Amino acid sequence: MVVDYAIVGLKFSTQDATKTAKAAEVLHGTGSMSQQVPSLPIFPTLIEALRSARYVVVLTGAGISAESSIPTFRDAQTGLWAKYSPQELATPQAFRRNPKLVWEWYAWRRELVAQAKPNPGHLALAELEQLVPLFTLITQNVDGLHQRAGSRNVIELHGSLRETYCLSCAREYIAPDVPEGLPPACGCGGVLKPNTVLFGEQLPAAALNQAMAASVSCSAMLVIGTSAAVQPAASLPYLAQQHGARTVEINPEKSLQGADFFLQEKAGTGLETILAEVKKILPRTPAI
Ligand code: OAD
Repeated sequence: MVVDYAIVGLKFSTQDATKTAKAAEVLHGTGSMSQQVPSLPIFPTLIEALRSARYVVVLTGAGISAESSIPTFRDAQTGLWAKYSPQELATPQAFRRNPKLVWEWYAWRRELVAQAKPNPGHLALAELEQLVPLFTLITQNVDGLHQRAGSRNVIELHGSLRETYCLSCAREYIAPDVPEGLPPACGCGGVLKPNTVLFGEQLPAAALNQAMAASVSCSAMLVIGTSAAVQPAASLPYLAQQHGARTVEINPEKSLQGADFFLQEKAGTGLETILAEVKKILPRTPAI
């Protein structure tokens, strides 16, 4: 059975809403509006799971910044990897072979990010952080838009476009205080590298450890705008689930297998909706 229902102006449907909460996991946004508001067997369960969560962790990917006009990597027509080759731009070998080309690519992305503004999805997460007792945002994004939106407890798993370091003396430069030139050179004459993770490189150990610790400790994890195609970030939702967290995916296309809830929506719409519903049922009573 397919049940459609509307909530705060959005319409969702679920396959077989008569099943138990665990089985009735899938919320599909249909994009159309309904005048009818039948019973809401699942959405309240999702909101309740968040409201009663003592520790909420969020994992974001490029999709959350799509509504800030920053292209994702793997979307079929618009993704960066549909137009550019990661082998030429995003590997340590590429950087050694042609640092100027890689720096031009980063300069272009930096400019894109400088022009961008946090969108409703980023802003909703910053507000959610204020409403729950414990909150950690793990992002694969290097654009800094979560911090610009006001999020505080942010783990940058793949580094940051703002940061640059010297491969010779390890001196760090934070944008805009990066030496001129493409590629820019360190004061010591060494080669500067953007502090973002390239394919084949290790993730920053401290960030990964913090992300894993957060994942095993949280009671709910929101997974937003990631294809879950890149490890180890892709494993974090499963780690959380294995340790008892409820998992919620928000994405126009399903990426996670077996999430407790799937909200088939863009990040901005999905998060604003969730935030509005969570705020309606405050004050909260955390389940300890
Ligand atoms: P991807 O480009 O792989 O996936 C983007 C996801 O966002 C897809 O699942 C889309 O369906 C979804 N999406 C698109 N628009 C959206 C919207 N408005 N709201 C919500 N979701 C939307 O990006 P990531 O999963 O972040 O790594 O990619 C992971 C890593 O691969 C990146 O950090 C980067 C890349 O290569 C490195 O550079 C090391």
